[in-house]
Amino acid sequence: MKIAAGADHAGFELKAQLAEKLRSLGHEVTDFGVAAADSVDYPDYAAKVCKAVMAGETELGILVCGTGQGMAMTANRFRDIRAAVCSEPFSARMARAHNNANVLCLGARVVGAGLAGEILDTFLNTAFEGGRHERRVHKINSSSA
Ligand code: RB5
Repeated sequence: MKIAAGADHAGFELKAQLAEKLRSLGHEVTDFGVAAADSVDYPDYAAKVCKAVMAGETELGILVCGTGQGMAMTANRFRDIRAAVCSEPFSARMARAHNNANVLCLGARVVGAGLAGEILDTFLNTAFEGGRHERRVHKINSSSA
């Protein structure tokens, strides 16, 4: 699978670990940075990943910041992006199965590398269930005010 990854200074280390894990599993990862601990603005990296997903360059995106929250808030402003902050595998499974989430947001100050890896595995290995959820996801996509 093709996956876009991005992080700010708080998340870059966890993002690097997850990218490595994904590559070892045979996935193709496009890493949009950041690659160092110097302070940056997370919306800039959320935008890069979301644009890759929107353009169909990658199927999914992964965003890591301190909490995952700022990344998700930014990502969900992009058309057809459904970003979910997940801190345990159940939420990751449901975000895929019911919400057809296409961007996983993780908080490097919330979860350790081991748990983050399990969350990521669950996210990648869960398919959208469709059916009644399809209508609701269409409503998410057409929601604006
Ligand atoms: C950076 O200090 C922090 O605010 C950021 O990584 C993130 O947690 C924002 O949501």
